[in-house]
Amino acid sequence: MLFRQLFDTTSSTYTYLIGDEEQGMALLIDPVAEKVERDLSLLRELGLSLTHVLDTHVHADHVTASGLLRARTGAKVVGGAAGAPCADLHVQHGDTLRVGAFNFQVLGTPGHTDDSVSYLLGDRVFTGDALLIRGNGRTDFQNGNAGTLYDSITRVLFSLPDETLVYPAHDYKGMTVTTIGEEKRHNPRVAGRSREGFIQLMNSLGLPKPKLIDVAVPANRACGLVRPDGAHESLTH
Ligand SMILES: [Fe+2]
Repeated sequence: MLFRQLFDTTSSTYTYLIGDEEQGMALLIDPVAEKVERDLSLLRELGLSLTHVLDTHVHADHVTASGLLRARTGAKVVGGAAGAPCADLHVQHGDTLRVGAFNFQVLGTPGHTDDSVSYLLGDRVFTGDALLIRGNGRTDFQNGNAGTLYDSITRVLFSLPDETLVYPAHDYKGMTVTTIGEEKRHNPRVAGRSREGFIQLMNSLGLPKPKLIDVAVPANRACGLVRPDGAHESLTH
C-alpha cells in the first residue's frame, strides 16, 4: 500500500492518498479544491489513476476538490448518508466500502456535523474532524451536537484497538498522527471527562464563526462546484 499525508497550509487540512501500485489505482480522502493540481500531478508521477474520492463530512472551512477531481478523472465521490447530495455513493455506519483491493469499514461518527463518518482501513482510521490530535471538531454549527460527538468518540472510536493510528482532517500545531490509546489518555477534551462535562465545555468555547462557512458549506454540498450565487462552476477558476 502506498500512503501519503498531504497538507494545505491555508486551511490546515490533511488530505490522504492511498494507492495500490499493483492495480495502478488510488483514492483521496478529504482533498482541497486549491490543491487539485498538486494532487493530480502526484497521482501522475506515481502512475496511479484516481478511482474514488472520500469526504469525511461537509466541511465548513475549505472547499472540497471532489467535484473537480470527478470531472477531471471520472473518480466516484463517496460521502456520509446525511451529507453532500452530490456524492455518487452515500455510506453509513456498518458499511464496508470496497475500493480496489482496499476494504474500508465505515464508522458513523456524527456530532461535529450530522453527516460525519470515519473510515477504518486495517490499523488506520481517518476521523475527519470527529477526533483530532488532542482535540475534536467544534459542535456549534451544521447540526453539530456535543453529546452526540462525545458518544461517537468514546463509544465508536475508543472501541477500536489502542494501537489504531488516527489520521485527522486537520492539525494546527504541527502534529501528524496519533493513536486511539494516546487520545484516550491525553485528549484534554475527553480524557477523564463525563458526557455532561464535555457538553458544558463544548458549549462554552465561544469560537468565532469560520470565515468560509457561508461559501464552503453550500459549495461542498455540491462537491465544490457551486458558487454562493448558485452558478454551477468551479470556485477556483
Ligand atoms: Fe469540519
